Amino acid sequence: MKRGEKAVLALIGVVLVVGVIRSMLHVEGKHDRDIPFYTTATGDVAIKGMDIYNHNGCKECHSLWTMKDILESVPAPMLDGIGSLRSETWLYDYLSSPNPQAVLPSRLKREYRMPSYLSIPEGDRHILAQYLASLKVKDWYLDQTKKSEYEKLTGKVYPQ
Ligand code: HEC
Repeated sequence: MKRGEKAVLALIGVVLVVGVIRSMLHVEGKHDRDIPFYTTATGDVAIKGMDIYNHNGCKECHSLWTMKDILESVPAPMLDGIGSLRSETWLYDYLSSPNPQAVLPSRLKREYRMPSYLSIPEGDRHILAQYLASLKVKDWYLDQTKKSEYEKLTGKVYPQ
């Protein structure tokens, strides 16, 4: 191969690599904007909260951070962003209620309903409530969801 050809090949190589890196960065940037869920929890609360969540069967029914037990098909609400809808106190009381359906009525079969977590240690319920309250959703997504739900349910254009 002539030196000139080598140089051209090297140049093509560099252009390709730069292109790939740029497209990766681009995808990543877009991805970040597309995920409307985040947590404000740090350190201990984030780690312990997720630990308690994982050890109490929550993921058998709920999805959080896109994780859900795929073998179960319980139509439970998704918990991403729940802290934008419920306060820490509400969440603590709900987990501690001997009958969660007295707080939030259910139309599901008994075996699908939210169980009482009054039997787990009080400290665990506190951390879990604190962690759940830290799960937020960005405003634009909430607005968009409200808008599309409204339009789906009423067939009318959402009033601005
Ligand atoms: C057997 C299935 C099941 C399990 C296990 C379960 N849940 Fe639930 N959960 C539900 C259902 C279903 C609802 C909706 C209310 C109802 O139908 O009882 C619910 C409701 C909730 C809500 C209220 C959501 C809202 O819209 O306000 C929170 C918070 C919640 N669950 C958290 C948890 C946590 C945390 C755990 C684990 C410690 C857990 N759940 C375990 C089924 C479950």
